[in-house]
Amino acid sequence: MTVRVVVAGAVYDQGRLLAARRSAPPELAGRWELPGGKLEPGESPQQALVRELREELGVETEPGERIPGEWPLKPGLVLQVWTARVVSGEPRPLQDHDELRWLTRHELDTVDWLDQDRPAVAEAGRRLPDG
Ligand code: CDP
Repeated sequence: MTVRVVVAGAVYDQGRLLAARRSAPPELAGRWELPGGKLEPGESPQQALVRELREELGVETEPGERIPGEWPLKPGLVLQVWTARVVSGEPRPLQDHDELRWLTRHELDTVDWLDQDRPAVAEAGRRLPDG
């Protein structure tokens, strides 16, 4: 079976991490995730991330480093996470999400993250300032 990659962004701005609340499908609605989506054929993970964040949030971003690890989502789908920073625009929930929040390190546990995102969120949180 070909394994497809979902790439998600640990998007940082001013010492905070972006969390996005899913509005669909019903079994995921209300849970929070790092925004992203599936790689299309021929795309690099970085290209897919920039495209997905543009489509979902209306912002231009610059990918940084890969957060080590790979997390199974369902058969044939794995999650990879890259850091990214916003280079232009203000994120808005254009599709897939109905709310966005910027979280400081101390606020990371205040939203109900999707289980599969939790290890990456913990790792992303270690890259946030203590303040
Ligand atoms: O937009 P696209 O169809 O490419 O992707 P998506 O629907 O946003 O995500 C594909 C799958 O990855 C869905 O099942 C999401 O629940 C899952 N996903 C996830 O578990 N964690 C993320 N941070 C992003 C996506």
